[in-house]
Amino acid sequence: MTDKSAQQVGLPIGMLAELTHRCPLQCPYCSNPKTLLKANRELPTADWQRVFEEAAELGILQVHLSGGEPTLRRDLEQLVQTLSRCGVYTNLITAGVNVSRDRLAALADAGLEHVQLSIQGADAETTERVGNFRGGFEQKLATAAHTRALGLPLTVNAPIHRHNIDQVDAFIQLALDLDADRLEIANVQYYGWAYLNRSALMPEREKVDRQIELIERAREDLRGILTIDFVTPDYYADYPKPCMGGWGMDAFAITPDGKVLPCHAAETIPSLTFDNVTTKSLEEIWYTSSAFNAYRGTDWMQEPCRSCPRKDIDFGGCRCQALALTGDATATDPACMLSPHHDRIGELAARQAEMKQTEFIYRRISADSA
Ligand code: SF4
Ligand code: FES
Repeated sequence: MTDKSAQQVGLPIGMLAELTHRCPLQCPYCSNPKTLLKANRELPTADWQRVFEEAAELGILQVHLSGGEPTLRRDLEQLVQTLSRCGVYTNLITAGVNVSRDRLAALADAGLEHVQLSIQGADAETTERVGNFRGGFEQKLATAAHTRALGLPLTVNAPIHRHNIDQVDAFIQLALDLDADRLEIANVQYYGWAYLNRSALMPEREKVDRQIELIERAREDLRGILTIDFVTPDYYADYPKPCMGGWGMDAFAITPDGKVLPCHAAETIPSLTFDNVTTKSLEEIWYTSSAFNAYRGTDWMQEPCRSCPRKDIDFGGCRCQALALTGDATATDPACMLSPHHDRIGELAARQAEMKQTEFIYRRISADSA
């Protein structure tokens, strides 16, 4: 794979910093890898601070502080302070449990600018079952209230699957009650933990169609009151999403131990190797990393993407999903109706929805974790 010059590659604007894989919740669709890193593998404070300074120099405008649960890092205030000093917009992506008002106030004082709170269900029972954490719903409502009382903007993030797809209208009401600015209705993406749990999570087609109608109506009715972002369910789509806005185009992720990934699930593609911030600068990695250059632009594409007029719109969809469903990361994402595998994934989704498996394989740090 050849390096691409600065002229051929744009500048990144967003970065997902996965500060830790530790988390009090165990959601069965977690986007973290199946082999989770233990605390002793996490980058120390000084390394993250240097990385954030490098990110600002590279032109990054927004950093999403994520995990696992980022508030488990005791140095989070210091990290937010560094970003704030560098003029980078900071968004905290949190599960919102075990986060006190004082902690949030300290983060706001350090310069935090936005909170994105995940809620697993529009009621206590669903939230607690999906996250496998008792009392979680009440704690999340309190975190939302503290966020707004501190004057921080709030996004409610609702990952949708079979167990809560009937709660979309209740999620909208909950977001209004919590005085959120934005609600993200995000249908679960089936790779990693969610792939393992597909037959426990896959919704039925009719419910997906009803959900889409409901969201379109609510968007109209709530214009100017609540912004509703919608991540469509890939298995029932006609065209794929431009995953990450295109591979290596304007954003990247960093793992708790410093690996720089073109997308948060890129480690599911075994043919790729990733550079680490402990041995190379972010700038060098962005331009020269073989993982970033593997699927940048359109030269790597096969047919039907190669000669498709949409190739600069969706960039062939998601590489991780293409690999998971076809065994080939350079294939057209089967979410696309032009993919030779498209009909098969629709049928597969319908079969999994019918299976109605009820038990989850919960995300957990296992004995073979690194
Ligand atoms: Fe997108 Fe490829 Fe499908 Fe064309 S063939 S719409 S580029 S995924
Ligand atoms: Fe990796 Fe879509 S999640 S490219």
